[in-house]
Amino acid sequence: MKGIILHGGHGTRLRPLTHTGPKQLLPIANKPMSQYCVESLKSAGITDIAIVIGGIGSKKVKDYYGTGTKFGVNFTFIEQDSPKGIAHAINLCKNFIGNEKFVVFLGDNLMTKSINEIVKKFNNSKVDAFLLLCEVDNPSQFGVAKIIDGKIKNIIEKPKNPVSNLAVTGIYFFQPHIFDIFPTLKPSWRNELEIVDAIQIMINNNLNVEFEIITEFWKDTGTPTDIINANTKILQSISSVSANDFPGLDISGLVSVGKNTEIHKNAKIIGPALIGNNCIIEPDTLIGPNTTIGDNCHLSACRIENSIVMSNCKITSDVHLKNSIIAFNCQILKKNTLSHQNTFLLGEGTNITL
Ligand code: DAU
Repeated sequence: MKGIILHGGHGTRLRPLTHTGPKQLLPIANKPMSQYCVESLKSAGITDIAIVIGGIGSKKVKDYYGTGTKFGVNFTFIEQDSPKGIAHAINLCKNFIGNEKFVVFLGDNLMTKSINEIVKKFNNSKVDAFLLLCEVDNPSQFGVAKIIDGKIKNIIEKPKNPVSNLAVTGIYFFQPHIFDIFPTLKPSWRNELEIVDAIQIMINNNLNVEFEIITEFWKDTGTPTDIINANTKILQSISSVSANDFPGLDISGLVSVGKNTEIHKNAKIIGPALIGNNCIIEPDTLIGPNTTIGDNCHLSACRIENSIVMSNCKITSDVHLKNSIIAFNCQILKKNTLSHQNTFLLGEGTNITL
């Protein structure tokens, strides 16, 4: 079996974070979100993986993933000139897939469920397509499936009046004959070739479209809040240090600290929290809970909770950041004392002096 990861699109809802790179490279617990897809495929034994790139930051994706050797897989990069839809992106991989069955991951979908068993079952079956569905509170933001007598009857993209609360997640299992359907698709109301339309054609043609309703954590990380929630979830399973490893330090809960990171004894870390390598955490700094700090950060006298601070940031103002995302290379420096809470969504390279 082969794998496809969709890494294109514009990520408009995540601006300014996506002005300088694709959303799928934004880190969750200090790892690009699309790397979770790579690891899931690899763990299921799928090592031939196409990454569809396009638009802003395509080069960053190629530079980060390279040939795949670093990740124990082989990557083939396929360029999409503009985001003309998920079905359009998959169709560009026709030659790459050849006659093999394949799994598609939308690169902005994060799921804690392993696909290993599904891959095994799908490989040994005649099922034409296999979908993972998940109950959601806001179905009108997803493809939504209507199930009758245990079979999917309809799937509709972002319906105004959803027929169920079962969202189609962005992890799909297909047979190569789906490529016969793509040329027959017409652009949707959002001017995209929709994967749900291709699947609906399969259903109409009495092909065997099966599904599983998952109860594990799944998130389409479309908004800053989604990213912060996904970070919180992933932090719950980090391998933590014991407070005994840091005698004299005020550390509690699940906390992971990277190499060469210095934490001053008058700083406080409340888990779950993940701190990268080569950081300096100075006195009177409070980190956590639910917070990730990237590599090479310098934090002093600030409070950061429920937030993500990416690598190479310097925060020396006594700000209280909550529910914030601070992108790579930002600085928030001290000028005058400021002690109220602030909520920031800072793009790469931002400088603030408070
Ligand atoms: O997350 C699940 C949902 O994903 C499904 O329930 C929907 O049925 C499906 O259409 C999709 O909806 P979104 O509106 O969230 O899709 P989005 O435009 O965000 O694109 C999903 C991913 O695919 C994202 O990583 C960007 C990438 N992409 C998207 C398009 C349209 C491409 O690489 N190329 C494209 O042309």
